[in-house]
Amino acid sequence: MHPPGRLLFHDAMADAASGAIAATTLVTPISVARGDGPWPVEAAEQAVAWEDGVITYVGPADGLTGTEPEWFEGCTIAPGFVDCHTHLPFAGWRADEFEARLSGVSYRELHGEGGIYRSARMLAEASDEEVLAFCQPLVQEMADHGTTTLELKSGYGLSVENELRQLRLARRLAEAAPQTCSVTLLACHAVPKGIERADWVRLVCDELIPTAAKDGLADAVDVYVEDIAFSVDDLAGVARCASEAGLAVRCHADQLGPSGAAEAAVALGARSGDHLNNISPAGVAALGAAEATVGVLLPTSTLFLRSAPPDARALLDAGAAIAIASDFNPGTSPVVSMPEVIATACSLYGLRPLEALAAATVNAAATLGLERERGTLAPGRPADLVILDGDAFRQVPYRPGHDPVMHTFVGGKRVGGR
Ligand code: NIG
Ligand code: FE
Repeated sequence: MHPPGRLLFHDAMADAASGAIAATTLVTPISVARGDGPWPVEAAEQAVAWEDGVITYVGPADGLTGTEPEWFEGCTIAPGFVDCHTHLPFAGWRADEFEARLSGVSYRELHGEGGIYRSARMLAEASDEEVLAFCQPLVQEMADHGTTTLELKSGYGLSVENELRQLRLARRLAEAAPQTCSVTLLACHAVPKGIERADWVRLVCDELIPTAAKDGLADAVDVYVEDIAFSVDDLAGVARCASEAGLAVRCHADQLGPSGAAEAAVALGARSGDHLNNISPAGVAALGAAEATVGVLLPTSTLFLRSAPPDARALLDAGAAIAIASDFNPGTSPVVSMPEVIATACSLYGLRPLEALAAATVNAAATLGLERERGTLAPGRPADLVILDGDAFRQVPYRPGHDPVMHTFVGGKRVGGR
């Protein structure tokens, strides 16, 4: 029996970028997992040490020399979560739409004046400082729930000027956030009012993407392919422009209905096809054979919309690399907690706990092009990690609604927890 972590732990670790911890269990992926693995490995009585924010040791606690680790009895050390699909920054909630949907109004019906268009109005009406004041506590709430890397997106701008503004706000939010952030230009989210779809796509290619790339405002470009939004052909055109500008491509694919977007995303070499509730057998096969494209599953948005889940097992059986993320947004997933996403992925999508862990860490990092830096615990990697209060990772999906994250570290510094 080892002594429990001292109460002074919070203060001691807050400023120091060097430290050492040990726990009953340590679990970490080794590399990106596809199809049948490799899945994360769990081992007993392990330690992690780091200096200047970089991991120097991962292994048996009794093999660590030169320093005495802080011991966490009955706890699990894991990599910090990578939330690779969120819609921050936004400004304001839409709880009344949630209530309306529970009375039978569909997401498609709300799309007319509400939905994305309403969030665009709320964003336009808020000052920059108001947007940041709304978002910063949410980003901290994510850190408290173990998220150490996250994606931020535009898509509520709906004009060249306002999309660029949202990207600048995302970069400012990233500066203020305790986590590592990657910014995506969701250039095609809803067709802006007063302009034809084709004209907007042209503007996106001629002005929005080149400006965003020139000013260093985005790391990737995303397109929402749906009957109420954009087509597979639009995706292909935007993907070409994004590639010319040196930006990666992502795609909201087959969420409300089938469109062939998943297989198009693979054919275009996109980093991800996201949602996939209505993916076709051809899409499953394409993701199964894809070299570069990760299938991103968003289980809390499925739960919240009461949609049918995609066949996650079929994707794995086909050989796909899958990630899971929150899709955090005021319309389809007001969920900041990756432990909740993991729990939902297991109970609703049938992922096994260690499959869900890989999907929430290194595979998610791959959708952001960060798989060599984030999502695994190994010497030379940043000390981005969480200490969970259960003695095995399975405790996380087993207890939905419970916050298991005691401590969150980014670059070796304590940035959240409870
Ligand atoms: O990923 N469906 C497209 N976009 C978001 C929802 C955006 C919103 O409703 O504000 C999604 O689910
Ligand atoms: Fe989304």
